Parts: sequence; C-alpha cells; structure tokens
Amino acid sequence: MALNIGNISVVGLGKLGTPFALAFASSGFEVHCFDVNKSIIEDLESGICALYEKGVNQLLKKCKKHLHFPTSYEDMIAKSDLTFIIVPTPSERDGSFTLKYIFQVLKELGRAVGKKKKRHTIVITSTVSPQSMEKIAFELEKITMKKTGKEIGLCYSPEFIALGNVVQNLTHPDVILIGESDKESGDLLEKIRISICKNKPRIIRSNWINAEISKIALNTYVTMKISFANMIARVCEQVPEADAKIVNGAVGSDSRVGIKYLKGGLGFGGPCFPRDNAALAEFITSLYLSAEIPESVQSFNRKQVDYIFRLIKKHISNKNKTIGILGLSYKPETDVIEESQGVLLAQKFISEGYKVHIYDPAAMENAKKVIPDVQFTKSIGECIGNSDIIIVATPWDEFIQFDWKNIKNKSHKIIIDCWGCLNENDFKANNTTYLRLGSYLK
Ligand SMILES: NC(=O)c1ccc[n+]([C@@H]2O[C@H](COP(=O)([O-])OP(=O)(O)OC[C@H]3O[C@@H](n4cnc5c(N)ncnc54)[C@H](O)[C@@H]3O)[C@@H](O)[C@H]2O)c1
Repeated sequence: MALNIGNISVVGLGKLGTPFALAFASSGFEVHCFDVNKSIIEDLESGICALYEKGVNQLLKKCKKHLHFPTSYEDMIAKSDLTFIIVPTPSERDGSFTLKYIFQVLKELGRAVGKKKKRHTIVITSTVSPQSMEKIAFELEKITMKKTGKEIGLCYSPEFIALGNVVQNLTHPDVILIGESDKESGDLLEKIRISICKNKPRIIRSNWINAEISKIALNTYVTMKISFANMIARVCEQVPEADAKIVNGAVGSDSRVGIKYLKGGLGFGGPCFPRDNAALAEFITSLYLSAEIPESVQSFNRKQVDYIFRLIKKHISNKNKTIGILGLSYKPETDVIEESQGVLLAQKFISEGYKVHIYDPAAMENAKKVIPDVQFTKSIGECIGNSDIIIVATPWDEFIQFDWKNIKNKSHKIIIDCWGCLNENDFKANNTTYLRLGSYLK
C-alpha cells in the first residue's frame, strides 16, 4: 500500500524527470512538478506521457492524483520540503557539462526559497562536472541570501539509470549516491530516496566533490569495460576458432571483474556514457594530469563504425549492394538515438555512396531527423527483403524473435550479428552467410 510520507517537487520532466516524478507519486508522495515545456505539463495533466519508456503510462494512470502542477515557484516551494532539479546539462566543447539550465532554474527557485520561512533542501540530480556544486552553492546563496548547509540544504545525487528501464532502475538501484552540504539535508534525502526502493541499495554519503567525481568515474569505468570486451572481440575475429563469447565470459567469471557489460559487440552510445567519459577526461586535463585512459576509450569507441564498414567492404564486391540496418536506438527499449552506433553506421554507408534501408521498432521518427537520405522500411521483414547485407545493430527483442529460418532469399545475403543475439543454426539452410562479431571472421 502506498504511504503518504511527504511533499517533494521536481523541476525538469524529461526522460529522467518524468519517470522520477511518477516513481515517487506512485509511492504515495505528493509531487509538485514543473517544466518550461508546457506541452509536457498539459499531457501529464490529461493523463498522457509521450515518453517512449516502459511502464510510465500505467504508473501515470495509477498515481495522477498525487501529481500537482503549481503555476509559480512560490507555490511549489511552499508546498514541498525538498526539490529535485533534473534539467539538461549539455556538454560544452571541452567535455564539461554546462550549468546554464540549472542556473536558470536557481534564479526563480532561489527567490522562492529565499522567502520561505522553513528550511528547504535542493537536490541536483542532473549530471554535473566536478567542482560544479561549489558554483551552484555560490549562486544559490547570492539569490536566497541564505547559507547552504545551515539555512538551506544542498545535495548532489545523480542517478545511474538506463533508458527503457528508468522506473525499475530507480526502484532497484545498486547504489544511492548522496553528496551533501550537511547531515540534516543528507538524512532527509536518504529517507525520501530510499522510500521508493524495493531493494536494499548501498547508500554512499559524502561531500559534494566525491559524489561529483564518483558519478562520472563509474560511467567511465563501464565504458572502459565495454571497450575492453570489444578489443577482445576484434582479436578473436582474426584468429581461427577463437570466440570472444568464451573469452569475455571467462574473464567476467572472475569476481574481481564481473560479467556485466563484458560482451563485445558494437561501441557504446546514448546520452550518458560518451558524455561522462569526455567530462572525466576534461576534468583530469584541467588538473594537468594525463587523461590517457578515458581518451583512448573514446577514440577506440569512435573507431567501431569504421571497423564494421571495412569488415563489410571485405565481403562485398561492389557498391550496388544494399545495406540493411536493423536497430537505430542506442540500446533496446528506447527511441533515443544519441550517439547510436546504428545511426552512425547508416551515415557512414550513405556517405560512402551505398543504398541503405533501415528499420527500428521505436526510433524511426527520431532517425528521420538525422538520416534523411535513406529508405525507411515498415517492418523487419521489409528491411531484410530489400537488403543484401543486413546489420543487426541493436539487440531488440523483435529481431531476436524474428523467424530468420524462413527468410526467402532470392539472392545471397550476409547477416552481421553485432551482438551475437541470433541463433547461428537458423541460417544454415537458406542462402545466407552469417557473421557474428567476436567470432572468427574468415
Ligand atoms: N536520460 C538519461 O539516461 C540520464 C541518466 C542519468 C542522468 N541524466 C542526467 O539528467 C539530466 C536530465 O536528463 P534528461 O535525459 O531527463 O533530459 P531531457 O532533455 O530529456 O529533459 C530535461 C527537461 O528539463 C526541462 N527544462 C529545461 N530547462 C528548464 C528550466 N529552466 N526549468 C524547468 N525545466 C527545464 C526540459 O523542458 C526537459 O523537459 C541531465 O543532466 C542528464 O545528464 C540523464
């Protein structure tokens, strides 16, 4: 049964903010929501969530009465004890995250907090670069005329979620990271954050700087692990009878390493991994230290598309062959295409003069904005039917479940399975060459 345990507010109702607000509202919190994009508010008020995100519409139906849409910051701050700020922090050219949108929020929110008699706690959930919280505190104190850590609480508590599973990740986190200005605000945030968890996550409480470094260090570590697995995959592709599935599996079986994200396939993408990696590199460089590790991971990752391109060129005799790309979202269960390897591959083949057909269960509309010169197909079957070389770039369930055994090939086809997600035996009978990344590619 839902508990009625408090009033919180959420500023920024995007891919993270809306599921975040819904997860709290469905746990009995009264959630006061604000976003500059009025259409998001109107949609939510009328019971619609336009995000492509698992479970959000069912949750919205269940907990709409706990969502409130105040018309002013005064109202929102008066009615809540703690505010989460989840607005964008796009990357600057040097890799650091801009604080522009956070400062925009602080301008108005800070005035309301300044007038409030009771203590208010502000939590930055947006990802920020190390040493940003000091700047945020300075700005907040200037506007509110109150001291952080004394009259107002200020925490940094970034989330580690994967799009497509945001609600599940928020309610079952491995770790809750809290960088706090003072114990009182850390205690309040811990109590609130943990109350929506359906597991027992590890709680790490620290000062701001350790939380700031931890967030981007963790994601950079994961990108390093992905790239390591890809390096092993590239090695095994050159050596008869070698198989990265077995090698990466063996490496990951050691408890010092762990199997997660050690698969070997295409590179990483999305709105977090590449940016967090670049932000750590920038921070390291700003300290006059060598950022070799995150920089090599980025440069290795960028080369994945060229590698696949060269690999395919080896298997085709001329440019008249049509390339089919299955999967444009950067991972399954999302329509987000930021830094997606499928999109980068499509762009590469188009720029090299190939005819490209694409299909994705969710990301076609977003892809149309960045790859216009391409044949958008209506189904996986149509994409396969129209193509000579088919690249499975995202391991969507729809692709895994597809009846590959019965594809009707008028001419010979090559299937490149980038994630090892298909069954090799399905291709034995028909006129197809099956190539799995990570296994020996003759
Ligand atoms: N999406 C993810 O997978 C993910 C994961 C972890 C952390 N983050 C971090 O969370 C933050 C938000 O990411 P997102 O993916 O939800 O972004 P998003 O672009 O999907 O959503 C941000 C929302 O903030 C709103 N906004 C912008 N300026 C505003 C303002 N001044 N006042 C009120 N609302 C404002 C926008 O209208 C938008 O709805 C970023 O810092 C991001 O790095 C995102």
